[in-house]
Amino acid sequence: MNFYVIIIMVGILLLITLILIVIDKLLGSSGERTITINEDTVIPADGDESVLSNLAKHNIFVPSACGGKATCGACKVRLYEGGGSLKPTEEPFISKEERAQNYRLACQVKVRENIKVKLPTSLLHIKEYKTLVTHIEDLTYDIKLIRLQLLDPDTIDFKPGQYVQLKVPGIEIERAYSIASNPKDKNIIELIVRMVPHGEATTFVHRALEVGDKVYITGPFGDFYLREETNREMICIAGGSGKAPIRSILMYLKDRGMKRKVKYFFGARTKKDLYYTEEFKKLQEEFPNFEYIPALSEPLPEDEWDGEVGLITDVVDRFTGDLSDAEAYLCGSPGMINACLKVLGKHNIKDENIFYDKF
Ligand SMILES: Cc1cc2nc3c(=O)[nH]c(=O)nc-3n(C[C@H](O)[C@H](O)[C@H](O)COP(=O)(O)OP(=O)(O)OC[C@H]3O[C@@H](n4cnc5c(N)ncnc54)[C@H](O)[C@@H]3O)c2cc1C
Ligand code: FES
Repeated sequence: MNFYVIIIMVGILLLITLILIVIDKLLGSSGERTITINEDTVIPADGDESVLSNLAKHNIFVPSACGGKATCGACKVRLYEGGGSLKPTEEPFISKEERAQNYRLACQVKVRENIKVKLPTSLLHIKEYKTLVTHIEDLTYDIKLIRLQLLDPDTIDFKPGQYVQLKVPGIEIERAYSIASNPKDKNIIELIVRMVPHGEATTFVHRALEVGDKVYITGPFGDFYLREETNREMICIAGGSGKAPIRSILMYLKDRGMKRKVKYFFGARTKKDLYYTEEFKKLQEEFPNFEYIPALSEPLPEDEWDGEVGLITDVVDRFTGDLSDAEAYLCGSPGMINACLKVLGKHNIKDENIFYDKF
């Protein structure tokens, strides 16, 4: 009797499995699909994975600063065909106009059907680099400099201000880090990484990464970079690890004789949050066109600080005249950047001359 019950139960289970497989095929939720890129390249795609990861498997790297968590919006692409309807996670990043043109977040769209996508040609040149960690240095109590030597490919071209994505081994997440080094050093990438409590990537970098380790990066990404078609006066504002891309921009300008007038404001809380002060003071001594203005918002008595004091927005306001023919490069927390945008607006800067990365 028991034997027959077992046979019947196994039969029922097999039937249910068969029905699920048929439903799966009918709904097209998995299996082999294709992605057509710019109407000319067709790649096979796994129906259970996103457009973002399917493209990455074929060495096409769409920016994905949050690693596919739908919090950065960097992976926005235009689909010509397929993709289904917009998900609630995508809504905050897709405007009405973009929705009409079927812009989507590549990390949120699974390839349930064949998809056609339009990608800027610049993205097709982005590569993955195997790198060797050659130097790790404490810049402050919570900020580290990481130097990576490129192994394969062994050179990179980037514009000063752009970023790369670092792959965290083991958990295979990716995070964006601005390049802090000189674009002329094509075999080296320096990153400035600030510890975020309980952060996955920063805990790895601060607690586990060692000289001699090999890590992978992709890039270069981003439209925050030095505009070279003008000789406009520049105002740079940074806080925390936002110093990274501005450092790369300044190294580049230095190599070209610092022809542009540059004022660089760096906001920190106390003296222990300052770093590379000597490097920028030296640059100031070398080039009369360059002025470095670090400011502390909450200096301690033991800091014996005789520099500027106050919120960086107030300091910028005090030191700035008319900016109607100037360019601004800002990098720091969203709160700092939003506040700075208001102050710069007061000094007549044109919106199209402001460039920033918020993180
Ligand atoms: C274009 C771009 C360039 C960037 N460049 C740099 C750079 O040069 N140096 C650098 O240090 N970082 C940079 N970042 C931020 C970086 O990509 C990571 O977001 C950051 O290092 C945190 O990663 P995590 O995995 O440690 O934290 P996660 O595990 O992603 O986050 C852990 C928790 O911390 C919160 N959190 C995340 N980031 C912050 C933050 N900055 N402050 C406070 N809370 C936070 C999250 O909401 C979450 O709750 C950049 C980001 C972008 C988009
Ligand atoms: S990768 Fe950040 S939203 Fe898609």
